Amino acid sequence: MKVKSEELVTLITIKTSCDKETIELGYRIGKNCKGGEIVALCGDLGAGKTCFVKGIGKGLNIEDRVINSPTFLICQSYTSGRLPLFHFDLYRLSDFSEIEDIGWYDYLNSDSVIVIEWAEKIREYLISDNVLWVTINIISENIREFVISANNKKLKYLLD
Ligand SMILES: Nc1ncnc2c1ncn2[C@@H]1O[C@H](COP(=O)(O)OP(=O)(O)O)[C@@H](O)[C@H]1O
Ligand SMILES: [Mg+2]
Repeated sequence: MKVKSEELVTLITIKTSCDKETIELGYRIGKNCKGGEIVALCGDLGAGKTCFVKGIGKGLNIEDRVINSPTFLICQSYTSGRLPLFHFDLYRLSDFSEIEDIGWYDYLNSDSVIVIEWAEKIREYLISDNVLWVTINIISENIREFVISANNKKLKYLLD
């Protein structure tokens, strides 16, 4: 079953004007995570996905300097924080079976926080109510627009 973007409810649209503000926005979501959330990030190279993940990590009490793009790994795990964080980067993914092979369903069933860069590549597999869609649009050199949406309003607490 495919999820059409028109079925998503926009929870907030917000602009940031530097890395620091993007980290703060990620922090806000990270600190509200209870476990079981999936943050699906969409946006071009250089949009600020990894920067946003640093903020989520900070909100989970993971030292932000340790978070980088897991470019040569599909998934990087961070277990030093309040909740485990699994950071996927699907830039090089050519087929969904590649993440099935590394135990995708075990990650999904865990009480952790999952963040996925290039989540649009697996959009049709991300149909749970726990998916927060974050689309980052590059407006100018330093301005980014974040459109944050979900299947319903259940995840609104992430923006408290
Ligand atoms: N408002 C902003 N938010 C996030 N990054 C920004 C912003 N303005 C400029 N940048 C720059 O954009 C780049 C984003 O890089 P990164 O987070 O690695 O992107 P991605 O993971 O989407 O490829 C960084 O070089 C950062 O300094
Ligand atoms: Mg990245």
